[in-house]
Amino acid sequence: MIHLDDITKTYHTGKVDTEVLLGVDLEVAAGEFLAIMGPSGSGKSTLLHILGLLDRASGGRYTLAGQEVSGLSDAELANLRNTLLGFVFQAFHLLPFATALANVLLPFTYASDYPDDAQEMARRALAQVGLEHRLHHRPGEMSGGECQRVALARALVSEPEVILADEPTGNLDLRSSLEVMSILQRLNEEGKTIVLVTHDAQIGNMCRRLLKLNYGRIDSDEPVEHRELAAELLAGLPEDGR
Ligand SMILES: Nc1ncnc2c1ncn2[C@@H]1O[C@H](COP(=O)(O)OP(=O)(O)O)[C@@H](O)[C@H]1O
Ligand SMILES: [Mg+2]
Repeated sequence: MIHLDDITKTYHTGKVDTEVLLGVDLEVAAGEFLAIMGPSGSGKSTLLHILGLLDRASGGRYTLAGQEVSGLSDAELANLRNTLLGFVFQAFHLLPFATALANVLLPFTYASDYPDDAQEMARRALAQVGLEHRLHHRPGEMSGGECQRVALARALVSEPEVILADEPTGNLDLRSSLEVMSILQRLNEEGKTIVLVTHDAQIGNMCRRLLKLNYGRIDSDEPVEHRELAAELLAGLPEDGR
């Protein structure tokens, strides 16, 4: 699904060059659930943005679903992004005055063809994250965990093959984090490929493969030995356990 070959990234800011990725090789097959961990500033978000076609690498080759992306135009990249990828960010990035339903419909309003059953697809995506009872709530009327689940529904609505999540539980309490992770684990069981950035070892331990980044290089890349199931941890929380 994802194939990176000697990917580098240097940011140019004024006269200063910051080398952030120093040659990353990575292969992610369909159906994997990969966690990217590493200290702050190690290049995790940069790598995820490149994977998500939100930014271009400075060097190396990136092949996504069989397409070498460096030769593609911005419009072609946007098209590939819209059809193949769904994003979730730490800060939700929801429109504050739009309902959950309207937020989930957003990807369609940017797309060239608005599907006839868009409303139905959005309702289904919200049901997938357990929010069928929050269709007309606005972000300010929901908890952080619910907002992140709306953001996840928005990522799911165009039925992408790959979900990319940058610290999706970074702003959430324990219960909400586990709720989001149990949804991601279920989606992965159903076949979605997921790449998730986190600095939380317990969250990393809920994925299937753990990659550690350090100063722009891969330090280690190993399967998760004793994977934790978020749904089980959730069931074990006390009633008021946040
Ligand atoms: N747009 C940018 N322009 C210049 N430098 C950047 C930019 N984005 C990130 N950086 C720098 O690149 C390094 C890695 O950033 P990032 O990928 O966000 O790390 P992480 O997500 O692991 O904390 C940091 O030193 C950061 O300051
Ligand atoms: Mg980051």
